[in-house]
Amino acid sequence: MQKTNHKVAPVSRRLRKTGGFRLDIDAVRKAYRRYAGFYDVYFGPVMQKGRRAAIRQMDCRSGERILEVGVGTGLSLGLYPRSVCVTGIDVSAEMLERAHARKQRLRLDHVVDLREMDAERMQFEDHAFDKVAAIYVASVVPNPVRLVNEMRRVCKPGGQMYFLNHFQSRNRLIAGMERVLAPLSKLLGFHPDMSLEGFIEDTRLDVIDQTRTNMLGYWTLITARNDAGIVDAASLPAEEVSIELGAAVVDPEIEYLRPTQH
Ligand SMILES: C[S@@+](CC[C@H](N)C(=O)[O-])C[C@H]1O[C@@H](n2cnc3c(N)ncnc32)[C@H](O)[C@@H]1O
Repeated sequence: MQKTNHKVAPVSRRLRKTGGFRLDIDAVRKAYRRYAGFYDVYFGPVMQKGRRAAIRQMDCRSGERILEVGVGTGLSLGLYPRSVCVTGIDVSAEMLERAHARKQRLRLDHVVDLREMDAERMQFEDHAFDKVAAIYVASVVPNPVRLVNEMRRVCKPGGQMYFLNHFQSRNRLIAGMERVLAPLSKLLGFHPDMSLEGFIEDTRLDVIDQTRTNMLGYWTLITARNDAGIVDAASLPAEEVSIELGAAVVDPEIEYLRPTQH
């Protein structure tokens, strides 16, 4: 079994750019327990174009190991080629139950594992997957920086990561409405006001492609190269490692994981 020591370099940072109002995992579970029964009706066909675009962009090759975090009810699972091995995880047992049913109903044998697991604390080994995708998930998790660090860790170095997400609108009117909704993040189960630039900056993603998709290009599909999880806290400018008290949110737990090579 491959083993990597993770030197934990604590970096307390602002979450201003990745969504000011905190979600916690219980709020997420609660929200998706509520959504599970009607999720496919409201978020199925209308968001399927984006799922298709994401999986097309993944350009899956025969035998590849694919991880989809926040797989939900499994609406994307039938879109993967049958020649790959897909693992899906989600924190919501109710959403996952529907993904299991879909796998059985559609005989999706290429879906090798569906598990209840927190994408910010995955139980997979380092470098276990060739490609890792987060489809409509980045603004749903409580801590997007931790999500990306975990995706880096479980993705093989030089592998690719994909994020399909809604980010704060460039239209001032819509952006204003999103800001108004932001305090309801817990109830909604996502951050309506997460900024694209802030997400990329905070997570240090090595973006190789960025495309707009779905209705009116309201969603963005990001393709990033896995830089092997090396976000060296020591190299960050001093101002970024300071705790900024008085900001809407201060999360002293955020940390970057820095794998040490053997
Ligand atoms: C908007 S839904 C997207 C579901 C699916 N990817 C799709 O295309 O419909 C977001 C999903 O992310 C899951 N989720 C949120 N936070 C998570 C976390 N920390 N770990 C794993 N799954 C999470 C939710 O339970 C929910 O099923």
